[in-house]
Amino acid sequence: MGIFDSLFKKNADASKGKPKPSDHASGIERATKVSKSVDIEARFERLRSAISGTMGNFFVAKDRFNGNRVVGVKLCDTDKVQFFENRFKGLNKPSEGEIAIGLNHSNIVETYEYGTSNRGQQFIVMEYIDGPGLHQLIAERKEDLLAGKRLDLITQMAESLAYLHRKEFIHRDICPRNYIVLKDMKKVKLIDFGLTLPATKAFMAPGNRTGTPLYMSPEIVRRRSTDKRVDIFSFAVTCYHMIAFDLPWQISDTTGRAALQHDTSPPREITEHRPEIDKVLAGTIMAAMHPNPELRTPDMETFLRQLRNVKTSL
Ligand SMILES: Nc1ncnc2c1ncn2[C@@H]1O[C@H](COP(=O)(O)OP(=O)(O)O)[C@@H](O)[C@H]1O
Ligand SMILES: [Mg+2]
Repeated sequence: MGIFDSLFKKNADASKGKPKPSDHASGIERATKVSKSVDIEARFERLRSAISGTMGNFFVAKDRFNGNRVVGVKLCDTDKVQFFENRFKGLNKPSEGEIAIGLNHSNIVETYEYGTSNRGQQFIVMEYIDGPGLHQLIAERKEDLLAGKRLDLITQMAESLAYLHRKEFIHRDICPRNYIVLKDMKKVKLIDFGLTLPATKAFMAPGNRTGTPLYMSPEIVRRRSTDKRVDIFSFAVTCYHMIAFDLPWQISDTTGRAALQHDTSPPREITEHRPEIDKVLAGTIMAAMHPNPELRTPDMETFLRQLRNVKTSL
């Protein structure tokens, strides 16, 4: 194994869930929220080719059992999910589907249902968010789309994470790939609870090095014990990246080794990339990616409070 554990994600384990009765209230046949033995191909008419991800793949489809509504389906690779789950044996870890379905926030993807297919694959059915991934806007340097909107988008992204933390979860994979901006650029939503863990002692113990290396906090890189502040670090690097179109640390290879610098060399000041940035915004972001969690912005509420003093967007 390399310096980073394979960046495995996991998905729903519906075996513990009890099916709920169908809800006919809206006039259309609603599927139960926890479903078993679903014939994926019979139920979903794929509209676009799948995006393959870390733990399986995602596709947009018409849900034939629900009035042909357009949904997003995440279908997982059973072996990969099992491998990730084995890390937490005996801890009664909630599955991705269980976590996702309990989240209700306007800046978080809405999950409709989760379960297992007739082939034993775990799946999640959710709203399809039609828009570019934040990583795409960054990679393509879409300044024309982002200009003047960043403060609003960052505030929404921060709200989604503050909410998740209030629900006592740690996302553990905050990065531009896991935020999708709606087409009109007025709204952004957090996705992907595949690595999300409860913020309890057992799950915060040292050793679990999963996530996206370039956004990874030093505590995870160094296999120290973790808490919600790992997300604050990754969030700050994400904000930095969407402002500077560059990362705070130089990357010399793609192995993830670059993350080792996160506590050995200081990040480049964001003002060097964007001298015109509001100083409060610059300070808020730099404080949230302090390598030492004790000196980092302590919680997302503090981050949001600081954001309120920012006068100009970017
Ligand atoms: N609800 C959704 N709406 C639109 N696209 C999505 C949605 N969920 C996932 N995707 C797309 O599928 C990709 C993989 O899904 P994700 O949940 O991030 O899984 P993973 O990163 O574990 O592979 C995302 O990066 C995004 O491009
Ligand atoms: Mg993802």
